[in-house]
Amino acid sequence: MTILITGGTGKVGGRLAQLLHSAGHRVLIASRTGKPTTPFAVVTFDFLDHGSFVNPFKQDPDIDRVFLVVPDILNTLPHYKPFIDMAISKGVKRFVLLTSTQAHPGSPGQGVVHQCLLDAKVDYAVLRPTWFMQNFGTDFKDSIRDSNEIVSAAGDGRIPFISNEDIAQAAFDTLVSEASPNRDYYLVGPELYSYDEAVALLSSVLGRTIIHRRSTVEEQEEVYKQFLSPEMAKVLAAMEGLAAEGKEEAFFYEPEHRKYPAKHTLGQYFKDNAHLWAI
Ligand SMILES: NC(=O)c1ccc[n+]([C@@H]2O[C@H](COP(=O)([O-])OP(=O)(O)OC[C@H]3O[C@@H](n4cnc5c(N)ncnc54)[C@H](OP(=O)(O)O)[C@@H]3O)[C@@H](O)[C@H]2O)c1
Repeated sequence: MTILITGGTGKVGGRLAQLLHSAGHRVLIASRTGKPTTPFAVVTFDFLDHGSFVNPFKQDPDIDRVFLVVPDILNTLPHYKPFIDMAISKGVKRFVLLTSTQAHPGSPGQGVVHQCLLDAKVDYAVLRPTWFMQNFGTDFKDSIRDSNEIVSAAGDGRIPFISNEDIAQAAFDTLVSEASPNRDYYLVGPELYSYDEAVALLSSVLGRTIIHRRSTVEEQEEVYKQFLSPEMAKVLAAMEGLAAEGKEEAFFYEPEHRKYPAKHTLGQYFKDNAHLWAI
């Protein structure tokens, strides 16, 4: 049996592929480029190109589980519903979907895909992480290295930053468990940090001062528009506004049974990856 990993060249999917491979599961990675990613089999696949949906099943007729990501696509229904329907018709028995804390079933974008799984009455799990600690090493990497700063509209809002490692582990567990979870989980890290507190921690690790420069939601929207669609830019900037109001912190206090356990800390991530921000 094979597990198809969409987003398998990304941060979470890539780590998930390694975990599954090490445990002896057969993995097929779906990627728009189809570029080989040793040691994994790769298939050309694009959620925006319906002609590519059949490719994974042609390449490996034994696919029975699928890890689903929703990368920067807001109008999801016309793309994800046909793919989910086709996958079920080809023998897929379980989907594990990566969304986010704020994506409730049916809400635009990721929440619509969550609802598609509920409507399909198929076995599933939905993983709803808060903000990734790895954003410091991707989105903020250049500004930390070049200007010793990060910029956000999150103000004093505190975030229970989560590691990709913990998300990939949750994806692994929910894909391979004998019984299907058929529920969603919030994924939050073990500690809360505002951006001011996070850059103070990073400063102590790097031995130089990194600052958090505050911007408004409107200013952030303009920044995001430089590389995302206007609609997506609005969504991302608005999420920073929600964090400023304490809406991301609130997930930290959800009852234990609503959350998936996570153990990796921001301090350890900074220590292990200090080379990323070295000057
Ligand atoms: N960063 C955060 O703080 C945060 C917080 C909560 C939730 N999330 C969610 O996490 C997800 C991102 O996960 P990640 O960080 O692991 O991914 P990532 O590193 O950003 O990589 C994106 C992945 O999506 C694939 N992809 C992009 N467009 C595609 C398309 N049209 N069709 C098929 N595949 C496509 C890419 O594959 P190819 O380029 O090979 O095609 C790549 O593997 C997003 O859904 C995001 O909303 C992020």
